Amino acid sequence: MRKQYAAANWKMNLTYQQGAELLKTVLSADLTLNENRLVLFAVPFPYLELANECVHQKKFYFSAAQNCSDKKSGAFTGEVSAEMLKSIDVPYCLVGHSERREHFGETNEILSGKVMICLTYGVTPVFCCGEPLQIREQNFQNDFVKKQLKESLFPLSAEQLLKVVIAYEPVWAIGTGKTASSEQAQEMHAYIRSVLEKQFGREVAQQISIVYGGSVKANNAKELFACGDVDGGLVGGASLNASDFIEIVRALK
Ligand code: 13P
Repeated sequence: MRKQYAAANWKMNLTYQQGAELLKTVLSADLTLNENRLVLFAVPFPYLELANECVHQKKFYFSAAQNCSDKKSGAFTGEVSAEMLKSIDVPYCLVGHSERREHFGETNEILSGKVMICLTYGVTPVFCCGEPLQIREQNFQNDFVKKQLKESLFPLSAEQLLKVVIAYEPVWAIGTGKTASSEQAQEMHAYIRSVLEKQFGREVAQQISIVYGGSVKANNAKELFACGDVDGGLVGGASLNASDFIEIVRALK
């Protein structure tokens, strides 16, 4: 069985106190987790140690950063390196969220560097891909996502790829309340797996977790997560509400 993830992406929301409260509530809920059913909290940098204090009290919950630099270290004011994340025990890092691509000019090439440096320091990258609306409207989504995978992940060895989690997040579904249908999600996830299979082989492709993101809510998570190639979700808005996020965790396979 592939690992299934319910990953909260808080983005740039919540004060420290609100975040602490939210973590406490989610962690006190009665959730059935195991090695293959995991919860991640991608929180703002200043809250990572708080998230760690909380998740270290229980198994199967992990902190995640929302971004890191593609550089090792040096004169890059305001940046945070993968080595720094590792040094405070942060096991996961989102890489290439569409908001980073759109607002901070992150290209497939830069993201390839970020994936690589995360792996170098033993931080699991959650590599985000997904097409904007106009690409979907022209029905070019497969080629678009394939290019993202090819340019950022194909430089990896099969062994390295096995340490990556993929998040498919169609840009038109992020924060819009317009979720991809379970058919659209399944179709793209299966396509992503087929692209990985061609490059890295079937055995590898079958082991990669591919989570869906884009308006995952308490009332649609179960149907989305039930799809054969959907291994959980990366959740923005609904992860800011404890009871909604708890329901989403419960919807994992
Ligand atoms: P929403 O769940 O708010 O649509 O955000 C999705 C997302 O971007 C998660 O990374």
